[in-house]
Amino acid sequence: MSVKKIAVLTSGGDSQGMNAAVRAVVRSGLYHGLEVYAVQRGYAGLINNDIRRMDLRSVGDIIQRGGTILQTARCKEFMTPEGQQIGANNLREHGIDGLVVIGGDGSYQGANKLSKLGIKTMGLPGTIDNDIPFTDFTIGFDTAVSIVVDAINKLRDTMSSHERSSVVEVMGRHCGDIALYSGLASGAETILVPEVGFDLDEIAKRMADNFAQGKRHSIVIVAEGVGKGEDIAAEITRRNGIEPRVTVLGHIQRGGAPTHNDRILASSLGDFAVRKLIEGESGKACGIIKGELVATDIDKVVHTKKDFNMELYELAKRLSQ
Ligand code: ADP
Ligand code: F6P
Repeated sequence: MSVKKIAVLTSGGDSQGMNAAVRAVVRSGLYHGLEVYAVQRGYAGLINNDIRRMDLRSVGDIIQRGGTILQTARCKEFMTPEGQQIGANNLREHGIDGLVVIGGDGSYQGANKLSKLGIKTMGLPGTIDNDIPFTDFTIGFDTAVSIVVDAINKLRDTMSSHERSSVVEVMGRHCGDIALYSGLASGAETILVPEVGFDLDEIAKRMADNFAQGKRHSIVIVAEGVGKGEDIAAEITRRNGIEPRVTVLGHIQRGGAPTHNDRILASSLGDFAVRKLIEGESGKACGIIKGELVATDIDKVVHTKKDFNMELYELAKRLSQ
């Protein structure tokens, strides 16, 4: 067996399903006879040596919880070679030879550095943004999209009553996937994402024409990577006189119970990462592509930009006439 003691940590922005992933790593590791440890507060805990032994019960009653029981951090010190060396040394002092990092692209960069320092490292895609390449979905994305769709359902009710327009700003950092998937699923009239250019004159005109032809509401989804919802609304008003109401969903998108899809994805990927470590693999990012679990070199993953799904974007456009 190539690893005997493994650790798990959660890092960067939290996401729903991280707990389910932690549970899967711990339980799968124990099932396979490994000693399993947890690092508290991501890379900050690695530097501060905040590491504890886990048992079956330490991950009981968490599969359904949002957030992360291991907590998370954004740690500047870990961006430095010195910080990374301290982290690797602390793991070695505990005799830990394998590490599962659950986080987004920044966390993957850190995992890549640890891997180059000789720690057997596996990455799990834990972020609502769905901005990690070599996986169709990240853990938390499905829940975040469900939250946005639910919010838009509610907004539609009141927008229709008043024959109003609504601008909804959603998260996603530089990635438009939350906007795209929630926009398509909620029948939004306009979806603005950083990956595709847009013409505000055309958007404002279409909105005015649609209202003139009897449409009772108009939903514009703005991915945060495009800019602020307030600014987009002001630009629309300047062009057509309509005053959209603006909703910024913010961190609500990152909370609450994970959907069953996220729990299953997290459970499958957590177990897969442990099995890959046992098989002797290292420096890999785990993902799911067309339903199949895959492990890709993390170095390749951090140097690749995720493709945007233009087919879905075009579909959303065609259906929102
Ligand atoms: P996410 O993982 O959600 O994308 P961040 O981008 O904030 O979140 O990254 C989380 C943490 O990963 C950072 O606070 C830092 O400790 C670590 N990290 C990010 N980029 C690097 C890097 N280039 N080298 C080493 N560690 C990094
Ligand atoms: O990466 C997840 C994410 O929620 C992004 O969608 C958003 O841009 C960012 O994190 C918010 O970061 P913070 O947790 O620092 O508010």
